[in-house]
Amino acid sequence: MANKPIEPPVPKEMLPRHIAIVMDGNGRWAKKRGMPRGYGHVQGARTFRRLLEYAHAIGIKYISFYAFSTENWRRPDDEVHGIMNLMRKYLKDAYNHFDLRTRFVLLGDETGFEPDLMKQFEDIQKDTDDFEVMTVGLAANYGSRREIAHAAQELAQLVKKGELEPEDITEELLAQHLYTHEMPDVDLLIRPGGEQRISNFLLWQCAYAEFYFCDTLWPDFDSKELDKAIIEFAKRTRRFGGL
Ligand code: IPE
Ligand code: IPE
Ligand code: MG
Repeated sequence: MANKPIEPPVPKEMLPRHIAIVMDGNGRWAKKRGMPRGYGHVQGARTFRRLLEYAHAIGIKYISFYAFSTENWRRPDDEVHGIMNLMRKYLKDAYNHFDLRTRFVLLGDETGFEPDLMKQFEDIQKDTDDFEVMTVGLAANYGSRREIAHAAQELAQLVKKGELEPEDITEELLAQHLYTHEMPDVDLLIRPGGEQRISNFLLWQCAYAEFYFCDTLWPDFDSKELDKAIIEFAKRTRRFGGL
């Protein structure tokens, strides 16, 4: 599949390096149409694909999508099952996009999935490991607090084995034990769907992210909406605590 470059909405050097998106509003989108929530997830998955291709075309280097949180297991079984099947389909589909040279990284706890899905996640990460055009973080069974707790466990193990001194635990070292260790911090966090909260997504990585919220429900979020968020981002003054 060809993906022709598209002129980005702002000069290239003003693009966010890492965009993170909370794909929210699928259920409400379906409800508004008198359809079951699962239909909203199907449309939301299509939006994910379109946006991924668009981000690639305008030259975004890192993009993370929040697909399923550690808290989303609380939903009814049939909804969870439907979302897992969509992941199976889209992971398979990713192989049709190899010419995009996009690297896929699972952000999340893979042990929570059925074995076949876990294998699919492992395979896609292995098979795209050398790709360098864009890195896509797939946040599935993701919870930021669990991620940080997991990093703390790994570091504690190293200390226990005598391979690490507690005082050598720095911010950088902790970051190397997060699922995002191969990605830079988030520059722009986008949440469509009308809610203005972070819902346990990339808490550490968003320390200095710019936040962009909009009411558009995720299935309706298109390239124009992404452009709007990027243009808004380019207008912000980032100080990182300085002057
Ligand atoms: C986001 O849409 C997708 C997942 C959380 C899996 P929702 O399913 O949360 O949709 P709303 O927020 O109920 O509309
Ligand atoms: C956040 O959306 C998780 C994903 C989009 C995967 P939720 O719909 O689960 O968040 P809350 O419950 O509104 O905070
Ligand atoms: Mg929601």
